[in-house]
Amino acid sequence: MHRRRFLELVGTAAATSACRPDATVAPHHVERAAVRSPFAHGIASGDPTQDGVVLWTRVEADGAEELDVDWVVSLRPDLSDPVARGRGVATIERDHTIKIDVRGLAPGRSYYYGFEAQGVGSPVGRTRTLPAGSPAQALLAVVSCANLPRGHFNAYGAIAARDDVELVVHLGDYLYEYANGRSGDGTAMGRVPDPADRECTTLDDYRRRHACYKRDAQLMAMHARHPMIAVWDDHEIVNNTWIGGAENHQPDEGAFAVRRQAAIQAWREWMPVRDVTGTAPIEIHRSFRFGDLLELFMLDTRIVGRDRQLPRDDWATLTSRGRSLLGPTQERWLLDGLRRSVDDGVAWRTLGQQVLMTQVRDADGLPRNTDMWDGYPAARDRILGFLQDLAIPDVVVLTGDIHSSWATVLHRDPFAAAPGPVLAVELTAPAVSSPPPAEPPDLAALHAAHPHIRWVDVRHRGYLTVRYDSREATATWHHTDDVARAHLELPARKAFRIPRGRPDLVEIDPPA
Ligand SMILES: [Fe+2]
Repeated sequence: MHRRRFLELVGTAAATSACRPDATVAPHHVERAAVRSPFAHGIASGDPTQDGVVLWTRVEADGAEELDVDWVVSLRPDLSDPVARGRGVATIERDHTIKIDVRGLAPGRSYYYGFEAQGVGSPVGRTRTLPAGSPAQALLAVVSCANLPRGHFNAYGAIAARDDVELVVHLGDYLYEYANGRSGDGTAMGRVPDPADRECTTLDDYRRRHACYKRDAQLMAMHARHPMIAVWDDHEIVNNTWIGGAENHQPDEGAFAVRRQAAIQAWREWMPVRDVTGTAPIEIHRSFRFGDLLELFMLDTRIVGRDRQLPRDDWATLTSRGRSLLGPTQERWLLDGLRRSVDDGVAWRTLGQQVLMTQVRDADGLPRNTDMWDGYPAARDRILGFLQDLAIPDVVVLTGDIHSSWATVLHRDPFAAAPGPVLAVELTAPAVSSPPPAEPPDLAALHAAHPHIRWVDVRHRGYLTVRYDSREATATWHHTDDVARAHLELPARKAFRIPRGRPDLVEIDPPA
């Protein structure tokens, strides 16, 4: 995308309410803004395979229960000479969202796509299939925690403006459930979420919240430019969810299972994730192979297998062997998949997941935050023990959730006199717009007591990129401390090399 046009777009977005019903501006077709488009929520693609990808859009149906939607995929930006095309139906049962699971494409190629309904074309999107064979490199952008009233999604805009990114990995908190004013008041910035006056609890609430976020110009631009692989964290449902409840779910808000189901239904309708049949729709773990270079394992550490969070001083229960974060089905799937990827000669393994795996203790020796893997130490040790016992090499863990940037190495017991080998590295992406922790840790004390934490930044918002090749991976954090205005200045602030075959973090200075 041309940078000048993009800045115009972002400026337009900054001047308008995010949820204004006629906000039909879309990234590649600013000139079409004058036409009332049925595609007010943009377009998106996701869950690429080596021969296909999921295309997503939503149509304004003007009262119709069903609407025909034509789609086309082409190698050319003008959508000429289509390589695939067809017609689908957007129905009221799915809130007039529609997904096309396109197959028959070639691996490792960029494609353009678009939709047409009621004689009006959508913006044109670009997507990319996963590579086969031995790709020279893979470049992922990693994001989490975008709270609309907290600020502009500048990280999304900056990712949209990058041509080198192949895929966006979203680690959750794509949206927040709160009423306006509960976690940020978007009034002054024109970023009031819909519904504004209440927390999302019903299917209609969650659908409206997704619709509102999908009108953000920088979010639209990112979706139009790159495919996404997304998992949820807690706020797509409700704060600090576990399988049977949540911190922010009260008895007067109805049955938790009903609310959870409503949130999941809206997420499945509105996100560019592959529809599943024959398995419970609450299961979202799935994996993606980039030829023999990388396998990406996307996890749900939030809902499907999570036992209730415990007080940090309930040490006996906290450390019990049976305590679960992934649940037995997902845990088995992950361990089997890790082993298989090694057997198949895949160079790198990456876990895309929500909560910090690194061990963090306070001065009293107790875990700082039991909503993270620290609240489920036996479950964590089963993963790390498996990596150690089977000598599973070259594992990178990607994490979101905590609104700050971390570069750490993982030992089974980092506090032991001899902590043993580094089994993986963990790279934590900052928030897109959610605020950093209100009480930031004393970094000097943190580093002194935690030699496995190589770097922490608790001030900035932004995004992370990870580039993989056959020799090393490179992690780069891109930061801004200004989300009160829309802009694209997110320079590289910190970078580390992770040599293949020797899990470690080697700083690159200046960051690249
Ligand atoms: Fe968050």
